Amino acid sequence: MKVLGIETSCDETGVAVYETSDDGRAGALRAHALYSQIALHAEYGGVVPELASRDHVRKLLPLIRQTLAEAGMTIADVDGVAYTAGPGLAGALLVGAAAGRALAWALERPAIAVHHMEGHLLAPLMEADPPAPPFVALLVSGGHTQLIAVEAIGCYRLLGDTLDDAAGEAFDKTAKMMGLAYPGGPELARLAEGGRANAYKFSRPMTDRPGFDFSFSGLKTQVLLAWQASDGSDSARADIARGFEDAVVDTLAIKCERALRATGARTLVVAGGVGANRRLRARLEKLAAELGGRVCFPRPEFCTDNGAMIAYAGALRLAAGQHEGESIAVYPRWDMATLPAL
Ligand code: KG4
Ligand code: ZN
Repeated sequence: MKVLGIETSCDETGVAVYETSDDGRAGALRAHALYSQIALHAEYGGVVPELASRDHVRKLLPLIRQTLAEAGMTIADVDGVAYTAGPGLAGALLVGAAAGRALAWALERPAIAVHHMEGHLLAPLMEADPPAPPFVALLVSGGHTQLIAVEAIGCYRLLGDTLDDAAGEAFDKTAKMMGLAYPGGPELARLAEGGRANAYKFSRPMTDRPGFDFSFSGLKTQVLLAWQASDGSDSARADIARGFEDAVVDTLAIKCERALRATGARTLVVAGGVGANRRLRARLEKLAAELGGRVCFPRPEFCTDNGAMIAYAGALRLAAGQHEGESIAVYPRWDMATLPAL
């Protein structure tokens, strides 16, 4: 079964084709393409929803044609269509959902609405030697910071969430405060490479109390105060970036360890844009080794938004016989715990 995946929940248009065997047990990515709107939103310092929607309209069909050509397919070879239906920006989601649902209807093939965060969560399963449930998932993106106990694919129990900013959002806002261009997260991480450890020591929020929740907005304020009190030099910026990154990485690692111990799971799965962070990857590799378990990440390009994870998650659900009705629906807010089991 060849599944066309469409991602338009925020500021990237992603398209991919994932092919599964008839029983859904084996599969391979046939082609994928991504168009990022970063340049479009950069001058506004953040994503402008209406511009995002209009750009998805412009880019989606050409990207579908390009992806099908790369897979050596025509549209008639598509056996099912998966599209992100939430969570995300309503207008942006509607572009992918309308195109995906209509395409499936015209082709008389099934369509499946995919939860964006389930897409992220399952992305590591596309890699070689994939992890199998039960495992703990750390989802760290621009909009989410969640620890989830995964008993089976499709059975998601939320252990912890952020009370304010998401980890990626904290990276982006901190970067902006220090004068870096949108989206500053990756640039802040790059700057931190040249910063000294412990030149600035920020707190590890909420690690001194039980539970799995996160809070990053106070950390952002600490960084702002440190930046304002500094001489504003490149080296101060790098040192502060390093202090901030270490605080976020440490905080995430402490909560991951807690979740692994509490659930008894031996595998940690990490996904979402911040999962591309090198220091986070190294820290969690070390943690997994200490606990005698393993940690699994998607390759960095599949940590951030992409069509491949949507095609893959959709392929699993279509192979299990799930599909949508004929209406077009999006869910800008959508609780993963409400998803049907596979
Ligand atoms: O998963 P994603 O592409 O989009 C959402 O679903 O939100 O995540 C984007 C987020 C942004 O906040 C970005 O700054 C952050 O991931 N990010 C990083 C890195 N690469 C992307 N944060 C820290 N270090 C990185 N290397
Ligand atoms: Zn995402």
